[in-house]
Amino acid sequence: MFHPILPVILVSTSIIVGQVGLAAQGPALAVIPQPIQAELSGGVFVIDENTVIVADTASMPEACKLQDYLAPAMGFRLKLVENAGSQRAITLRIADAFAGLADEGYALSVAPDGILIGAKARPGLFHGIQTLRQLLPPAVFRLARVEGVRWEVPCVRIEDQPRFKWRGLLVDTARHFVPKSSLLKFIDTMALHKFNSLQLHLTDDQGWRIEIKKYPKLTEIGAWRDETLVGHARTKPWQFDGRRHGGFYTQNDIREIVRYAADRHINVVPEIEMPGHARAAISAYPRLGCNPDTPLKPWAVWGVCPDIFCPTDEMIAFMQDVLTEVMELFPSPFIHIGGDEAVKDQWKASPVVQARIKELGLKDEAEMQSWFVKQMDAFLTRHGRRLVGWDEILEGGLAPGAVVMSWRGEKGGITAAKSGHDVVMAPTSYTYLDYYQGPKEREPLAIGGDVPIEKVYGYDPIPAELSADEARHVLGTQGQLWSEYIPNPRHLEYMAYPRAAALAEVAWSAKERRDFDSFMNRLRQHVQRLQVMDVNFRPLDK
Ligand code: ACM
Repeated sequence: MFHPILPVILVSTSIIVGQVGLAAQGPALAVIPQPIQAELSGGVFVIDENTVIVADTASMPEACKLQDYLAPAMGFRLKLVENAGSQRAITLRIADAFAGLADEGYALSVAPDGILIGAKARPGLFHGIQTLRQLLPPAVFRLARVEGVRWEVPCVRIEDQPRFKWRGLLVDTARHFVPKSSLLKFIDTMALHKFNSLQLHLTDDQGWRIEIKKYPKLTEIGAWRDETLVGHARTKPWQFDGRRHGGFYTQNDIREIVRYAADRHINVVPEIEMPGHARAAISAYPRLGCNPDTPLKPWAVWGVCPDIFCPTDEMIAFMQDVLTEVMELFPSPFIHIGGDEAVKDQWKASPVVQARIKELGLKDEAEMQSWFVKQMDAFLTRHGRRLVGWDEILEGGLAPGAVVMSWRGEKGGITAAKSGHDVVMAPTSYTYLDYYQGPKEREPLAIGGDVPIEKVYGYDPIPAELSADEARHVLGTQGQLWSEYIPNPRHLEYMAYPRAAALAEVAWSAKERRDFDSFMNRLRQHVQRLQVMDVNFRPLDK
């Protein structure tokens, strides 16, 4: 894993930072996620007004970001130059010399007279910059000038690269709408933790959140519900707040979000739910459902809703039209079509669906769903994209190109990987960040479950049942922030952090280097950064 690329200057004071834990005074390098290899040496590099950033054309976009990151707190903007001359410099370099690093990997060397960040491509430079930010005092994250801080970076030599290529978080914008500005802040915080994938859950029973030009009622009607359940759905009788809730992203909003994330080397994966979780869409276009003469409204309660798309040719063409606009907006190689919790009662009762099952020679409703997903898979494949679905898409036979997101435990992921399909591991018991993170009586209302930070940290995305060959199908892991009980962006941050920092380390760091005590030591410093960034993280247990 270790690629000796930078000249190794081992001075006598150098400390090999194995588990990076110098417990009493806190860790010397509080970097999250933990780099693969970090070697501290004595001394510091000091950034001041005379420091320059050296970048060539290829690395210039990342150099501008470094400038932007440092300027607000430092109160001065580092000059960008092509050659340092005699000036003390932070040099960014994309070069063949770094080709030994994995994609997204970087090498960072800090010496008293200069800093060098090298990578084979821009994402690596960007991740190196995130590490550099974490080597500076936490005040560097402030968005206004900070007086009286010496901007010191400890001398260190780091080589780093991710363990997994899918390091994701899911934000559910359907149950509670997340304003664009809050999403952009969320993306910034993801970038700090070297996440590279944001799944936007855009449609569900309770709301449709993306403008589709061809079908304007999806947002005119589907983006608004009359009211919302108060308290937990298990608590009867149900009570409602009597307040209209909703909102949606225009296509321009989506373009802005996607561009903002791409600038930070984060891919946005859209999730358009089908055939279940479809009530908001059916409310807007009743002909998509199994009971077109029964008017519906976007759902005001939480849980699994029986309303489901009716798999007619017209409905399939409709959703393919939707996906066509979605593909124009999202360059993501992966398009998520949901596929989970599709209750089949309406299919069982529908003469139209029963006739379809017979006509297609299918055995039952599970095969009907599988046939439907295969239509979408073929459509997306024809357009050069890959279908992703929750593990229910295994039932009735998996579509040839599909990627499986394993949420009901690891079983779906194991089955899919063994049959040669790529998988993203997202099991409830480790990665559902909408579950409780502490004792229920002391936490705000959540959907249920019990996923404290040590549970997240202890997760290994490679199931023990997989051979090395099969394990190559595990693209990575993702944390879920379903928002039934996450009513606003502050609460989204509370549920995400610090557990997402633990998941970031699971997704990025080498398994052998993971150590919960070391992580918690670093986290105690790391939360100071989150505080300065005004991220509403859950305070650490003492
Ligand atoms: C899911 O949590 N229904 C994927």
